[in-house]
Amino acid sequence: MIRGGFITFEGIDGCGKSTQADLLAKRLRSEGGVVVASREPGGTPIAEKIRALLLNSAHREMVKECEVLLYLAARAQHLKEKIIPAINRGATVICDRFQDATFAYQGFGREVTLEQLRRMNSFATGGIDPDLTFLLDVPVEKAFERLTAMKKPKDRLEDGERDFFERVRKGYRRVAADAPGRIVLLDGTLPPEVLEEKVYMITAGKLKEISCY
Ligand SMILES: Nc1ncnc2c1ncn2[C@@H]1O[C@H](COP(=O)(O)OP(=O)(O)O)[C@@H](O)[C@H]1O
Ligand SMILES: [Mg+2]
Repeated sequence: MIRGGFITFEGIDGCGKSTQADLLAKRLRSEGGVVVASREPGGTPIAEKIRALLLNSAHREMVKECEVLLYLAARAQHLKEKIIPAINRGATVICDRFQDATFAYQGFGREVTLEQLRRMNSFATGGIDPDLTFLLDVPVEKAFERLTAMKKPKDRLEDGERDFFERVRKGYRRVAADAPGRIVLLDGTLPPEVLEEKVYMITAGKLKEISCY
């Protein structure tokens, strides 16, 4: 059966995920590829509503268990309603964040037990993993400088936040080390066009492999 690829981008805010996801989508489309670009949390009407709940900064009292379950609820809906049908039609799905973010943010960041997250995530995904994941690794300070330059609302990284993002960055690196066959770690401080070329070459190789099933 011919199926499309499922490619995800991961890393802390400001690492360059959206930039590289867009560049890859454009490049594959320019070659005649059918690409479905999506993001997590979100990607479908229901999952976007869950995203709005999660990202509402007024919801400061949200407990980590609620946060985990909402992310996973959004993922389950997104995967079944949009990602799997697209892959089965032969499209390549490019998703800005997916399951690795749960382990990095809720696992290493908020210190939810990894084993519990594994079980809950596999309930949400039915065990479906991306074919290929790019982790764009950037120092927390650098990522924050980029966000500041983009005039994101916050202009100061508080101490608690710095520790949190350091844990998330380390967490992402651990997750990548545990899945070397799927996750490609890239130095996100390289120039965008250098990263674009690497991402494209690796993706092209993977798509070829998938279409030879
Ligand atoms: N490789 C890079 N080098 C320098 N700046 C970059 C690079 N990639 C992205 N940027 C810039 O950093 C900012 C954050 O990038 P973005 O793609 O939005 O990150 P993310 O989606 O991971 O939060 C943007 O202003 C973008 O233009
Ligand atoms: Mg982004």
